Amino acid sequence: MANQFDVVVIGGGPGGYIAAIRAAQLGFKTACIDAGKNKAGDAPALGGTCLNVGCIPSKALLQSSEHFHAAAHDFGEHGITVGQPQIDVAKMIARKDDIVTKLTGGIAFLFKKNKVESLHGTGSLKAQNGDVWQVEVDNGGEKQTVEAKHVIVATGSVPRPLSGVTIDNQNVLDNVGALNLTKIPAKLGVIGSGVIGLEMGSVWKRLGSEVTILEAMPTFMAMADQQIAKEAFKEFTKKQGLDILLGVNIDEIVNDGKKVTVKYTHKDEQKSETFDKLIVAIGRVPNTAGLNAEAVGLKVSERGLIEVDDDCRTNLPNVWAIGDAVRGPMLAHKASEEGVAVAERIAGQKPHIDLDVIPSVVYTTPEIAWVGKTEEQLKAAGVEYKKGQAGFAANGRALGMGQAQGTVKMLVDAQTDRILGVHMIGPMVSELISEAVVAMEFSASGEDIARIVHAHPTLSEVLHEAALATDKRALHG
Ligand code: FAD
Ligand code: NAI
Repeated sequence: MANQFDVVVIGGGPGGYIAAIRAAQLGFKTACIDAGKNKAGDAPALGGTCLNVGCIPSKALLQSSEHFHAAAHDFGEHGITVGQPQIDVAKMIARKDDIVTKLTGGIAFLFKKNKVESLHGTGSLKAQNGDVWQVEVDNGGEKQTVEAKHVIVATGSVPRPLSGVTIDNQNVLDNVGALNLTKIPAKLGVIGSGVIGLEMGSVWKRLGSEVTILEAMPTFMAMADQQIAKEAFKEFTKKQGLDILLGVNIDEIVNDGKKVTVKYTHKDEQKSETFDKLIVAIGRVPNTAGLNAEAVGLKVSERGLIEVDDDCRTNLPNVWAIGDAVRGPMLAHKASEEGVAVAERIAGQKPHIDLDVIPSVVYTTPEIAWVGKTEEQLKAAGVEYKKGQAGFAANGRALGMGQAQGTVKMLVDAQTDRILGVHMIGPMVSELISEAVVAMEFSASGEDIARIVHAHPTLSEVLHEAALATDKRALHG
């Protein structure tokens, strides 16, 4: 007799593990099937891409490299002399690994606490028998079948392959290899100036690598507000020395086992550059392999996304899908919120997620964060808007931190004053963006933010000032 559950979740990343916990909290007998393994590959590890080879390890390395860079370049202005700092890469990576182990272990603990049954292996949909789904769990050939009324698919994403290139994670790296380098490469090449390229490029640049980023698009950070993107481009290239080439066509990549040579065309000129390591980060694609999607008739779009409606329902009865495997931004917080929403919907509640109010953050220095519409999107949609902006240059807290650079821009509806978008580049804007998200979720106006008391001296005063500026009454502008 198969193990029976109310809800079975396939995938234990930030989408799946949160869905499982919420389903269990709501009283459902829940199992979560996850195929993920730890770095050594010898034990199961929950948490998916985000915890194991994504958000968490990348932020750990960004922090370590930022400290190193600050010790070498910024401490002096505070009157602190430390000499030339040294970096122990192995220790930095071990610290990152410890954080990952702590957090992935934490999910196993939360599963026990919430009575979520954790099943290790690859989950695939077999068939629906009456209103019960049969799901097979394959753990290295050892198979079992579990049954559940509802199945939540949260199988995430994998790196988008670049044709003709083999990722060996020795010399040609995806996110997994980029997070586990044991030596600082003298010359690092990166294909793709997206979020991974910029974050990983920053880590190794701060530690001393010469970094060249080759981007296909003629526009830098096409998804971001272009005023902020231009400021970021200047900062990364002119001040930090990242060599970012736009409008590049990659012609050939040769990995001779020691070095990697990239032949490419830039501005009609054919070029060739040899790197010690090459990171390929050209986006991610949904991971539906292993689900048996085709056989059971689960609809997958041409781009590989599992097709869902606004409530994350697939075309199959009582099969739901969330996170990177479905439409919308490929972000951990979006996946988790969908997980919560689906569990609650199964329980008959009516949650709602507004995909237009999902914050995005790039954890470079300075950080970049935004929520809502860009100026380009508003112009294209013919929406009349007012814009207010303020800089960190005269902000007391930012000056004290030695990070007085960047801009906050608020866009409000010209008629109603409702906030339509907020775009930031500057210190700790990853945290500041939350105020804008709350405001937008509550349909706040620019005046609402302008009239709210912001503590002094804080970085949040710059957002306050930007809100005042939408009405041309900035006090420090
Ligand atoms: P995943 O996290 O990919 O989890 C899917 C899980 O399902 C995996 O454990 C996988 O092994 C398992 N699985 C797949 N198929 C099966 C199957 N058939 N059976 C059983 N298990 C299966 N997002 C942010 O919001 N902030 C960040 O700072 C950030 N940084 C990132 C940095 C990097 C380098 C990368 C690569 C990504 C980053 N992301 C970040 C994106 C984030 O990691 C993803 O959006 C998020 O992990 C998606 O969650 P998910 O649950 O949908 O899928
Ligand atoms: P991305 O979509 O952010 O960027 C990929 C870049 O590669 C784009 O600029 C694209 O134009 C470029 N590109 C595509 N094909 C190319 C080619 N053949 N040659 C050169 N350039 C090419 O994808 P990335 O950086 O791989 O990250 C994947 C996803 O992971 C992100 O979209 C994001 O959802 C998530 N992520 C989120 C982070 C965060 O929230 N801070 C951090 C890292 C990743």
